[in-house]
Parts: sequence; structure tokens; C-alpha cells
Amino acid sequence: TTSSIYADPSRYLSSHPSNNVPPHIAALVGRGLHVRPDHPIGIVRAKIQEYFANLDDGVTYRIYDAEDPIVTTTQCFDDLRIPPDHPGRSPSDTYYVTDTTLLRTHTSAHQSEHLRSGDADAFLCAGDVYRRDEIDSSHYPAFHQLEGVKLFPVEQMRGAEGLRGDEWTDSSECKAIAADLKSTLEGLMDHLFGETEKRWSEDYFPFTTPSYELEIKYEGRWLEVLGCGVIHEEVLDMSSRGDRRGWAFGLGLERLAMILFEIPDIRLFWTDDARFVGQFKEGKIRKFVPYSKYPPVYKDIAFWIPENYIENDFYEMARGIAGDIIERMEMIDEFTNAKKGKTSKCYRITYRSMDRSLTNEEVDALQDELRVKVENLGVEVR
Ligand code: PHE
Repeated sequence: TTSSIYADPSRYLSSHPSNNVPPHIAALVGRGLHVRPDHPIGIVRAKIQEYFANLDDGVTYRIYDAEDPIVTTTQCFDDLRIPPDHPGRSPSDTYYVTDTTLLRTHTSAHQSEHLRSGDADAFLCAGDVYRRDEIDSSHYPAFHQLEGVKLFPVEQMRGAEGLRGDEWTDSSECKAIAADLKSTLEGLMDHLFGETEKRWSEDYFPFTTPSYELEIKYEGRWLEVLGCGVIHEEVLDMSSRGDRRGWAFGLGLERLAMILFEIPDIRLFWTDDARFVGQFKEGKIRKFVPYSKYPPVYKDIAFWIPENYIENDFYEMARGIAGDIIERMEMIDEFTNAKKGKTSKCYRITYRSMDRSLTNEEVDALQDELRVKVENLGVEVR
């Protein structure tokens, strides 16, 4: 479906001992959903770019959307002040290609190189990102983010760019940048959703301070749509832009598209089914019309877990065997046998295909395979 040079699974499946990219993830890279003009992810991306292109803040936002999804640990973490022991670096959360290269976990991985290049004082950068995670209707190990960065001209800073720490965050210049960030993003939400209820809260990211998260109200519920903040001066220093200050934000395109198009399941974005892709047109936001769902098949599996049990390894193993026909995996029971000193977990797996009816036999075969392979995680199936 794409001619992208990134759509070559062999790039991601190295024999390096640190490689933990399974073939079903390698097969997703390079699909380029965010650059397809008539795909919901591409439509939302274009609508965001349109907002920034028409913003009268006197700034031109340079567009990047074709960077290599393989980045270094320096780009993804060190350049962003993410400490060595941060859980986001762990192979239980992140797909490593080698010990020093990985599938980017966020588009912030490209901030520093674009800052350092000096090519633009403002830019938008979109791409596919990867995180090992549970799977359900709103979580998928591959999704898309759009990053925005804006630096402010030195003349507006009146020397404040020399300030550090509290002196900087307490300055009126830092507050002005945070205010510009918030009003820019509120305007973006109105551009996407019409007038919508929003709320800000404080957040934490190692690469911005202060940091915020924005939630919008959708069908009576508050939904987090983005993280942002004033770029940490050390991030700018490391990119040789210590003479500047600015803001950054990162938002999830799936989350926005699911709300705008009323798409009920995040896995639909990856389907080639004409009943899905045929519904969308460049520049048009219209409600998705669900097509009939095939019936689910439920299977439970219970096992004693070892001390070093990693839940994501189990989720991923199941997906490696059954792929996208696993709609949901849910832990439904957990107990510890005090005598044995062991803990048992029971999971319910919902199997459902989006384009055909599953037979009980084929699901049993997958479940049997899982029961055998899961022992490789050191568990004891009950
Ligand atoms: N990279 C952050 C995330 O993925 C979002 C973010 C981007 C936060 C830029 C602040 C600034 O959660």
C-alpha cells in the first residue's frame, strides 16, 4: 500500500540480541497512514497543518513528515533529558532494533535534530510511533503523533534567554511563552472541534518546564488530547540553541481522529477493508458508519506467574500468534496461594475478526498454540 523506503520489515528485524521487534510490528512500519490524503489520520494531520499555516502569529511552520522511524537512544531519550532509569526506556515498553537504536516512542525524538539544524524557528513533525502496550479498542502498539515547536525571536526575550532554572520559569518571558502555547492550542482545538470545553492541568515531562496537559470534553467525558510545555533550557543548550526559548507540544492523531470521525476501534485505522477506507475523502470530516460486526469468541487462560513476569511480553506473544483478531485481553482474576507463595493470573481473550466470522476450531488452535508458547515466559499454565 506504500512505496516508502521504511516499509521494508527487514530494517527492523535485526539479529542483534537486543532486538525485540516482532514481525507483526515490523509489518506496520512505513504504512504512512499520516500522509495518506484520504485516510482519517492523514485528514486530521492536514487539518492541523492548515490551522498552523493560517495562524497569524507571523511564523512559518516548517513541515516534516518523512523521518526515519528508527532513531537512536540519544535522539529519543538523552537529548530530551530522559534519565537512564526511566521506564519508557525499558525493553518491556519499547521496541529496540539494536541496543542503541529503536522504533521511536514519540515524535519528540526529532525535536533536537531540527532545533540543531537551525533550518526553522517553528516546525510541525508527524509520524508513526511505537510502544509496547496492552491492546484494546483505544490502545495499539503503533500510533501516530504530531509534534509542534516554536522558538521566539531574541528581541522579544529582552535577555531572558540567559536565565536558568526558577529565574527563567518565574520570568514574564517564560509566562508569555506558556500563554502563547495555551492560546495557540486552544485555537487548534476550536479549529478541529468547533467551540469545545477544555481544561488544562499541570503535567511533567523531562524536556519541558512548566509542562501541561490539555483535555477536551467529549460525550460527557474528559479526554486527554495532548502534552506540552515550555522547552527546557538544557534541551536547547544541548541543541546549540541556548540563545532561544520556546514551546513544544505533542498530540496523538488517533485519539483526535477517533473523536472527530466517531471511529470506535483504534485497530480500524490499519485495515485495508474497502468498507472502512472507502468512507473517507480528502479534507472531509464525516461520521464513520459502522459496518456489521462479526461475533466474538471468548477464551480464558490462567497460569502461575514467575517473579520476573512481564505482562507486555504475554500480550505481545498473543498478538504474535493471533494478530489483529485479538480484540481485547483483560485480566479477570488474580490470587496468591500463600502456601505455595505463588500468584495466579487469569486472562480473558476476546477474538473477533473485523472482516469475517471466526470458527471455534481456528480460535481453539490459536489458543492451544498460546498455551504451549506461553510456558517460554516461565509461567505454569493451570
Ligand atoms: N512526547 C510527549 C509524549 O509522547 C508529548 C510532548 C511533546 C510533551 C512535546 C511536551 C512537549 O507523551
